Amino acid sequence: MPGNAKTLTDQDAHEANAQWGGRFAGGPAAIMQDINASIGFDKALWRQDIAGSKAHAAMLAKTGIISGEDARAITEGLDQIGHEIAAGMFEFSTALEDIHMNIEARLSDRIGEAGKRLHTARSRNDQVATDFRLWVRDAIDGLEQQAAALMRALARRALEHAATPMPGFTHLQTAQPVTFGHHLMAYVEMLARDRGRLNDARRRLNESPLGSAALAGTSFPIDREMTARALGFDRPTANSLDAVSDRDFALEYLSALSIMAMHLSRLAEEIVIWCSAPFSFIRLSDAFTTGSSIMPQKRNPDAAELVRAKGGRITGALVGLLTVMKGLPLAYAKDMQEDKEPVFAATDAATLCLAAMDGMVRDLTVNEAQMRAYAGSGFSTATDLADWLVRVLKVPFRTAHHVTGRLVGKAEAKGVGLAELSLAEMQEEEAGITQDIFSVLSVDSSIASRTSPGGTAADNVRAQATHWLDTLGAQK
Ligand code: ARG
Repeated sequence: MPGNAKTLTDQDAHEANAQWGGRFAGGPAAIMQDINASIGFDKALWRQDIAGSKAHAAMLAKTGIISGEDARAITEGLDQIGHEIAAGMFEFSTALEDIHMNIEARLSDRIGEAGKRLHTARSRNDQVATDFRLWVRDAIDGLEQQAAALMRALARRALEHAATPMPGFTHLQTAQPVTFGHHLMAYVEMLARDRGRLNDARRRLNESPLGSAALAGTSFPIDREMTARALGFDRPTANSLDAVSDRDFALEYLSALSIMAMHLSRLAEEIVIWCSAPFSFIRLSDAFTTGSSIMPQKRNPDAAELVRAKGGRITGALVGLLTVMKGLPLAYAKDMQEDKEPVFAATDAATLCLAAMDGMVRDLTVNEAQMRAYAGSGFSTATDLADWLVRVLKVPFRTAHHVTGRLVGKAEAKGVGLAELSLAEMQEEEAGITQDIFSVLSVDSSIASRTSPGGTAADNVRAQATHWLDTLGAQK
């Protein structure tokens, strides 16, 4: 042995796992147990594991594979174990590796022989695939509700600010005036797609792997329709090899979360920008800011920054699990045990992000004067001027663009806005311009003119916000 490399000694070896130890003379090395055990995190699946086992036991009795009496004892025993776990009275054992064997071993402790019949016609491979699908399904339902709540919060603020002008940006350069309500409604549309993706993922995941057994199915006359129905699945999966080795449902879920987290991160970034002193478009209250230990004037938007940052974690979870899965031959491999932590962590992060964003959207106050002032700066109505030339003088748009560009240059040189140029100065660039042009150069007229479907005119924004509030069943 080179240097001080550690050899395994008897002290390192642990007791063999009673659930599969039959052919093993010795127990695992301590490090084997450490790398192998998942109970530290998969105990989160206990509710799903118990539900899956109860459905399985009822099916085994109905098909005559075990007796009705055994099934009743199993069901009662599982319910009691559920109470123990919920009450924090359950002793989780690392030697028993995972949640499945912890619960099954405890069941046999409690009810004896009958407990040992539960694992007939199933394997941990179909068991964990079933448990995890159920867990992800619940997580989707929770996040979907939270996303709907955030959409309501955004739509309410949008209704309130349907006519509040703000500068619309492209390249973060002032582009054209828009309304703050319109800007917020853009995020409502994003979240609506996020909910759609979550629901799509839910629809595809809702098939039951239970009964696929280890990989090949089983010789017992099981009823997979029955267990599928009992667990709220639409149908059993069609291929046992696929069922035990598929983690698409987790990947689709993480993809949907990653895209949603990207949206939340963009809004978070805008909040950070808007509440910076040079912008001062919004203010977050003490409830959603923190102070600096050295600079007394600071109000830091930490919640928004952390929403922005957690997007990285969520995307990391997706990339991590994709990388775990990409080289695995069919069917199950232990690598797949690494599927849970990223999904749990991403779920926690997404839950926090949605809640924090909901809080900030409700909390923020809008500095309307500041937003309005900047909405009119940077020659933001230049497009309105060009459009006037096209509409009234029938100038081709490209020509109108050039004329307007020269007028912007002129105003810039004088240090004034477009509306402050005189009619004579305008006419030097285009003789046909009349006094009427000044009617399109204000922020309000620009916004009011954007009545094309999906445009920023206040009535459009009101209609969009009301539509979503009605659809989501919210109080206005
Ligand atoms: N703890 C395991 C997992 O999460 C359960 C399945 C184990 N199956 C096996 N054949 N070792 O993937």
